[in-house]
Amino acid sequence: MTALEKKLTDRSARVGVVGMGYVGLPLAIAAVRKGFRVTGFDIDPVRVRVLASGRSHIPDVPGSAVAEGVKAGRFSATTSFAACGRCDVVVICVPTPLRKTKEPDLTCVILACRSVAAHLRKGQLIVLESTTYPGTTRELVLPMFAARGLKVGRDFHLAFSPERVDPANKKFGIANTPKVVGGVTKSCSALVARFYGQFIETVVPVRDVDTAEMVKLLENTFRAVNIAMANEMALMCHRLGVDIWEIIRAASTKPFGFMPFYPGPGLGGHCIPVDPSYLAWKMKSLNFEPRLIELAANINSQMPEYTVSRVGDLLNAMRRPLKGSRVFVLGVAYKPDVNDMRESPSLDVIKLLSERGAAVSYHDPFVPAVEIELGAGRQPLRLRSRPLTRAALRAAHLTAILTAHRCVDYQEVVKHSRLVFDTRNATVGMKRKNIRRI
Ligand SMILES: NC(=O)c1ccc[n+]([C@@H]2O[C@H](COP(=O)([O-])OP(=O)(O)OC[C@H]3O[C@@H](n4cnc5c(N)ncnc54)[C@H](O)[C@@H]3O)[C@@H](O)[C@H]2O)c1
Repeated sequence: MTALEKKLTDRSARVGVVGMGYVGLPLAIAAVRKGFRVTGFDIDPVRVRVLASGRSHIPDVPGSAVAEGVKAGRFSATTSFAACGRCDVVVICVPTPLRKTKEPDLTCVILACRSVAAHLRKGQLIVLESTTYPGTTRELVLPMFAARGLKVGRDFHLAFSPERVDPANKKFGIANTPKVVGGVTKSCSALVARFYGQFIETVVPVRDVDTAEMVKLLENTFRAVNIAMANEMALMCHRLGVDIWEIIRAASTKPFGFMPFYPGPGLGGHCIPVDPSYLAWKMKSLNFEPRLIELAANINSQMPEYTVSRVGDLLNAMRRPLKGSRVFVLGVAYKPDVNDMRESPSLDVIKLLSERGAAVSYHDPFVPAVEIELGAGRQPLRLRSRPLTRAALRAAHLTAILTAHRCVDYQEVVKHSRLVFDTRNATVGMKRKNIRRI
């Protein structure tokens, strides 16, 4: 057994997690709970201060868990990467967004790797968890570390392990979601499997880093494509005058060969709308046209526009132009029960409604305020979440349910709204005449 294997097994290894966000913080705390000493690294000093004082900014991680880790001396947070050199394992969980041109923006990965590589020493295991295109670990990350004069697989170890965390999922968390791992060399693979095996029930080793990177892109492209199909089905069902929700419910009774996906006002979050574009970009560089990915992105990205056109039609049927109508939006987070607004379609819907002259207000129990860019020469739209009162519902000409947070009483919403446009089937089972669904 090598020294690092021994330290991983008896959990005396020091762990560094770079990027204290939705992915990094839950991972760090899961390792702390299993006895590792963990340092969280982040470039955001406010985030680091919050964590170092024993509080949490991620809803899935209770402040008490951070506080316990800090108190026990097993968790600390810092903006200084010098402590990286003392870590035996460093896991990198920084954002991988897209540029406006839909090309991968690996700036955070490059900067984080540079910071970690500056303190690389013999015996360390480095793991990239950020979602990215196949080839990133081998072609981009490895050379940055190898440039320090150490040999991968002998002097240090490098691996990729995609993160599968599903914020707000009460059933599957870090410990019981199987973890895919792939190393640059065999010894890298063995070490990364041993590391995650200490606090994750099932580790799924794959052949190499490229395979591990591609697993994540298959998973998220699968979702993006199937959601696009559900969205297009919804458009077709509306034309046909049949109810998409009833159709999905009935199709779901098939015990094999069908898995339900649901339509909505658009794709949101940091992953599903973004990750397939990483794969598409890579494939185009290899002269391969990723047609299905592009078609799915095209359908999904038109859903906010479709939502607004349906709102306009519904108001029109009440002899009201969209311009000057009051629209009350329920939910601006990209999915239920989270405060994350990244890529949220609600923001696009609010923007389009406002540009067309509607007076938009919103309620979201998780998001107190939003700022939405309205385009050249216009002041950004700044809105604060309004209390969900009967008066607020009655005052609106239309209530649009865009994110179905579970804590909202939709019976009450329907009862006190003039007209409800439900894009999430939050009003399932309700038969009132003022409900229209996507
Ligand atoms: N959020 C999810 O549900 C989810 C799920 C699976 C995979 N992922 C992937 O995980 C990665 C991280 O996503 P996230 O949601 O945790 O992002 P996040 O924005 O919540 O957190 C990222 C953190 O990294 C920090 N950071 C940025 N650059 C840094 C640097 N150079 N050094 C140190 N810290 C830096 C930021 O300040 C931030 O605190 C992305 O690649 C994402 O695609 C996210």
